[in-house]
Amino acid sequence: MPDSIITATGIHKTYDIGTVKVNALRGVELIVERGEMVAIMGPSGCGKTTMLNCLSGLDEIDSGQVVIDGVVLHDLPDDDRSDYRARNMGFVFQLYNLLPVLSAVENVELPLLVSGVNPSEARRRSMELLELVGLTERAQHLPGELSGGQRQRVTIARALVNQPSIVWADEPTGDLDSETAGEIMDLMCKLNVENGQSFVLVTHSDDVGARAHRIVRMRDGSIVDDGNGHVTEA
Ligand SMILES: Nc1ncnc2c1ncn2[C@@H]1O[C@H](COP(=O)(O)OP(=O)(O)OP(=O)(O)O)[C@@H](O)[C@H]1O
Ligand SMILES: [Mg+2]
Repeated sequence: MPDSIITATGIHKTYDIGTVKVNALRGVELIVERGEMVAIMGPSGCGKTTMLNCLSGLDEIDSGQVVIDGVVLHDLPDDDRSDYRARNMGFVFQLYNLLPVLSAVENVELPLLVSGVNPSEARRRSMELLELVGLTERAQHLPGELSGGQRQRVTIARALVNQPSIVWADEPTGDLDSETAGEIMDLMCKLNVENGQSFVLVTHSDDVGARAHRIVRMRDGSIVDDGNGHVTEA
């Protein structure tokens, strides 16, 4: 029996900047099963980042409904929605870069400290995550003292430290050479299989897309191919 963790229906999102209106999402429909890894692909400006922001509840929507694990996301008051995100979701977004003045392990433990986990427990769990991504030896390094791939692994450790059921990633391998990108994908696929976490990742790379269970293709604010055989001509 399919068990969906994300059900988005009829999502519309307009950006209103002065006199200009951008219809960034035009009736997006998407279902993601528990444990599934979905790649979102499509040309620049088609609405991929907007979709991640709206489906994860980071941003408001104009109409439609996002149900995550039975919870209607945009019905939650702001504070509850932030709480829900912090407890159930992990983010690998360029917007949430590592804090440059904090060491790798301090960056990873930050979400735990914010959600009230005691410092020694937060440190223990963060070190576990750094071990998982192969960076035990770099725990005390500042982001500026790490390579691009190592920084991205710290970001992934931070996204996973609260054991989220969904990980959202916006071009997680975007700045990396193809070998490092492959290693990051190895890591995400391993976590997906071992922990049964669902991944929704935006990518411009066919190699990354090929590693996902399914590729969802977007164009002009709509999903034109859901990767499950449902294709719409835009
Ligand atoms: N904050 C904003 N205010 C106004 N318009 C925006 C805003 N963010 C995005 N847009 C517009 O919405 C559309 C979708 O943008 P989005 O960032 O979702 O595209 P994308 O598919 O992620 O592109 P890329 O591959 O370049 O990252 C674009 O036309 C963009 O110009
Ligand atoms: Mg984008």
